[in-house]
Amino acid sequence: MEMEEVAAPGCERAIVAREPSVGYLGIVVVHSTARGPAIGGVRWKRYRDESEALDDAMRLARGMTCKNALAGLPLGGGKSIIVQTGPPSDERVLPFHARAIEALAGAYVGGVDVGTSPETMRLLRRDTRYVHGLPGGAGDPSPLTARGVAAAMRVAVSRRWPGATLSGKRVMIQGCGAVGSALAELARAEGASVLVSDVDEPRARRVAARVDGVVVAPADALLAACDVLAPCALGGVLDDATVRGLRAAVIVGAANNQLAAARHGDELHARGVLYVPDFVANAGGVINGCVELLGWTREQVDRSVDAIAVTVGDVLDRAERTGVPPSRVAEAMVSERLGLPSA
Ligand code: NAI
Repeated sequence: MEMEEVAAPGCERAIVAREPSVGYLGIVVVHSTARGPAIGGVRWKRYRDESEALDDAMRLARGMTCKNALAGLPLGGGKSIIVQTGPPSDERVLPFHARAIEALAGAYVGGVDVGTSPETMRLLRRDTRYVHGLPGGAGDPSPLTARGVAAAMRVAVSRRWPGATLSGKRVMIQGCGAVGSALAELARAEGASVLVSDVDEPRARRVAARVDGVVVAPADALLAACDVLAPCALGGVLDDATVRGLRAAVIVGAANNQLAAARHGDELHARGVLYVPDFVANAGGVINGCVELLGWTREQVDRSVDAIAVTVGDVLDRAERTGVPPSRVAEAMVSERLGLPSA
């Protein structure tokens, strides 16, 4: 197998590995180990080319650094990618990806992500010690991610409409997967009227039926008339078009990298929309992994997920006090926790 260090501005290290005999192309990015080993999922999907995959890995790795730092975890941020070049889930590539991870000697620790499962981690574990999320390990992170997002939503709603709760608020959830569907139930249980949307329409209808909700067509989800928008499908959804057209007053959801660019956070703020940075709200899943990664008890996990609400409160307090958008405040708090000068 061929392995090469490549330039990855802003990241500690990045390697690209190849094994042409099985069509393997892999990338491992270590964004930061300032607070501990760089934790981040192993993503397995198709990309247009190597450079698109490297950009994605760098962006996602940075997001993990931010998430772990603001959750107060002694962990850094990283990401790895298996670029799908042949048929899906061709397991012959896994020993090579495991060797690429092992070559970083623990600076990066992989976990479950888009396209991988606990079973994938079990297979990788044959050739590297540095993966977690195996069958029988910490278990599905989604319920805790949803719990953390719901907690963040409660805080944001009570700030946007002083003293308000979710009761009577219209909450639009984009994506009815593992997190979105659990969030729909939590919001409903607190008296919200729930709107849901999914490109898998039968799935959206099933979730709507469970929460007495309304199904919105995928093309209309981001601009729907609602109080709270919860992006729980994909990243990059807050772009020029949506920021200008959206009708929600609060945005808080599980998807990573919701802002298409940093300036969209500024624009939301200028428009009076309260945006809770994704990496603050969606840390429940990575906190769940601490059972395996750090040997935490379930009580420690619960306490740490409950602390997401406190961190959201801190971010919003500082934003209110300084007039700086919450997205910038959260970034500044990450820099402080990493001991870096503020950007
Ligand atoms: P999932 O794969 O179970 O669900 C995603 C859902 O979004 C699917 O039902 C899919 O059909 C739907 N979807 C895709 N494109 C859509 C579109 N354009 N409009 C409407 N729906 C669309 O994923 P999961 O686990 O629920 O995660 C949701 C998001 O939160 C993802 O972006 C994930 O990366 C992020 N996240 C998840 C965590 C977890 O613990 N599962 C932790 C932190 C972030």
